[in-house]
Amino acid sequence: MATSNILRRSLLYVPGSSQRMLDKSRSLVADCIAYDLEDSVTPSRKADARILVRNAIDQPLPSEIKERAVRINSVSSGLALGDLTEVLKSPNLSTIVIPKVESASDLHFVNDVISHTLSSSSSAQQPPISLIALIESAKSIMNLSAICASTPSLSGLIFAAADFSLDLSITQTPSLTEFLYARSAIVTAARAYNLPSTIDLVCTEFKDEDVLRDECLNGKRMGFNGKQCIHPSQLGTVHEVFAPSGGEVDWAVRVVVADEKAARAGRGAWSLDGKMIDVPVAERAKAIVKKATLCGVDVESVRRRWKVEEPQ
Ligand code: COA
Ligand code: MG
Repeated sequence: MATSNILRRSLLYVPGSSQRMLDKSRSLVADCIAYDLEDSVTPSRKADARILVRNAIDQPLPSEIKERAVRINSVSSGLALGDLTEVLKSPNLSTIVIPKVESASDLHFVNDVISHTLSSSSSAQQPPISLIALIESAKSIMNLSAICASTPSLSGLIFAAADFSLDLSITQTPSLTEFLYARSAIVTAARAYNLPSTIDLVCTEFKDEDVLRDECLNGKRMGFNGKQCIHPSQLGTVHEVFAPSGGEVDWAVRVVVADEKAARAGRGAWSLDGKMIDVPVAERAKAIVKKATLCGVDVESVRRRWKVEEPQ
């Protein structure tokens, strides 16, 4: 998967020991389906879940689902090698989600197992497996730079609030301010190391759409571009909030159209609706247009609508 084109607004966990939910996942539209072998599976079901998940990845899925991931158990659990050995047998696997990543060596371990397994199997021709690291402890926040720099296979970071709260004895409040430092560190590190995907905490109140929407907006404002989901009912809101809104697309296209004219006239700074536009604002507009295209918006028709826009 070309990392620059990653669209991972939603990452939906599907418990690997639940055949019912594994079946259900085939009818759901998430950007990334993450079959879980970690905390939603009890120790006595771990071995069975590996087989159920492997079978689920082997099944065809709707083309809207671009990415099929497995969340393995942490490297320190001693279960990761067994998880990887089973799920890497499937040619449909695109991504490994690694929990409790605390240092670069966790990612090196997973990478080494992947290269060893794939080079000794007939699936050597399959596209490279991308990695996503769960950041869920004080130690992992302190080691973010080394984690981000550890391997080019790393395509994103996830903030996991439950284990992070456990580690730091945090009491979570609706404002999420107690996570401000950790969440901001994650999006900043991802940006510094050019990782395209930053995925925010799970909203455990899965029956309350308003709470979910507020959390999504909060994460988007902070620079996250996706959210972990635990229930199918969360997907619609998450996709809506993490795609550019109609208003954002209109604004971005107007800026891009007028900026092209301003550049031809030799003007680096100009104004739109009473606000100054210069290079960083124009670049942000271009990024919104690119994201809208990835999300399936017909940007060309919006552009036709705004072709008369002029720099003021
Ligand atoms: N993936 C796939 N299907 C799911 C799902 C999920 N994460 N969560 C619910 N569903 C399905 C159910 O199987 C049910 O399908 P059906 O009606 O066709 O049988 C439908 O969606 C409605 O589910 P509902 O009855 O509202 O939920 P529930 O009470 O069965 O389960 C949870 C609620 C929270 C226990 C469940 O959503 C879940 O286990 N989520 C994932 C938890 C997880 O992975 N945690 C670890 C990562 S943080
Ligand atoms: Mg966790």
